[in-house]
Amino acid sequence: MGATVIEQVEKVGRQFRKRLASAGDAAALEALRIEFLGRSGGKIPELMSHLASLPKDEKPAFGKAVNQLKQAALGELAAAKEGLAAEADRTRPQVDVTLPGRRPHLGRLHPITRARNEMVEIFARLGFSVAEGPEIEDEWHNFIALNIPEEHPARDPLDNYYIRDDLLLRTQTSTVQIRVMESTPPPVRVIVPGRVYRPDTADAGHSNMFHQLEGLWVDDGVTFAHLKTVLDMFVHAFFGPATGTRFRPSFFPFTEPSAEVDVSCLLCGAKGCPACKRTGWMEILGCGMVDPNVLRAVGYDPEEVTGFAFGLAIERPAMLKYGINDIRLFYQNDMRFREQF
Ligand code: DAH
Repeated sequence: MGATVIEQVEKVGRQFRKRLASAGDAAALEALRIEFLGRSGGKIPELMSHLASLPKDEKPAFGKAVNQLKQAALGELAAAKEGLAAEADRTRPQVDVTLPGRRPHLGRLHPITRARNEMVEIFARLGFSVAEGPEIEDEWHNFIALNIPEEHPARDPLDNYYIRDDLLLRTQTSTVQIRVMESTPPPVRVIVPGRVYRPDTADAGHSNMFHQLEGLWVDDGVTFAHLKTVLDMFVHAFFGPATGTRFRPSFFPFTEPSAEVDVSCLLCGAKGCPACKRTGWMEILGCGMVDPNVLRAVGYDPEEVTGFAFGLAIERPAMLKYGINDIRLFYQNDMRFREQF
């Protein structure tokens, strides 16, 4: 066979492969296909023009060589095309960073939880730890041990959610004062956040379920001065240092003496406005020195230890601080309300 024509085929093959190696995109591959395999004028089909001038016995081998090159070139072009597509897939960004993002839905704390956490944190700084107790209580813890006698109006069945004769939903977190002292020898210094229940008709200021925070500090030598100091510090930390406090004498069966504490109206700065009924003050809690009868009921010796206690509804300070004018908003789960906190 004429070495020259076979060499021609090999030469075109080398040319094709060299060009293929440097074809970097789909357009270059297509140009290559047209140049080498194009029906009219493609370099490989063109080789067939030599066929006529070859001796008869060399024609089949030559035709076969050209055909093989053609098949090989087609296969290599297809492989190169696939390689390019795979490469493009691999490097294509998986996320379109130009699209607007999806805002993650962040949960938030309920304002009651927020107020409670803040209160717990303030009292923790003063050395109080958190205690908890059951919401279904017996009369001993809700009344008797707290020095609330049988005939006291607070025990009226109409003012309590009784479950059985001697079981009710607790009306106050003061129950946990008793539970803590029954199970712990003095000294004790605890706060008790929790739910309480009273059959009140719901209005802007009342709910038949609300939250209280109870405080109790019993030790050798605890005085009313400690009580005033702790509550002053609490009020300043929770409402701000400019907030005034006022202790008014009051009565609770479980404390003696007892007081109610007012804070200077946060809305008018104690000048007097409709919110504070023009008094300049708003009541936030009850407190006093733990009654010796209560200490005796839990087995403490009132000659050895004294203590103070206080209790507040978490809703009330939360409403004052966050400017909420209806207690029912806390429980309605309206997202327009909730999302403001
Ligand atoms: N338990 C009282 C109430 O629910 C609040 C209270 C007043 C708690 C005086 C106390 C206290 O510990 O000393 O109205």
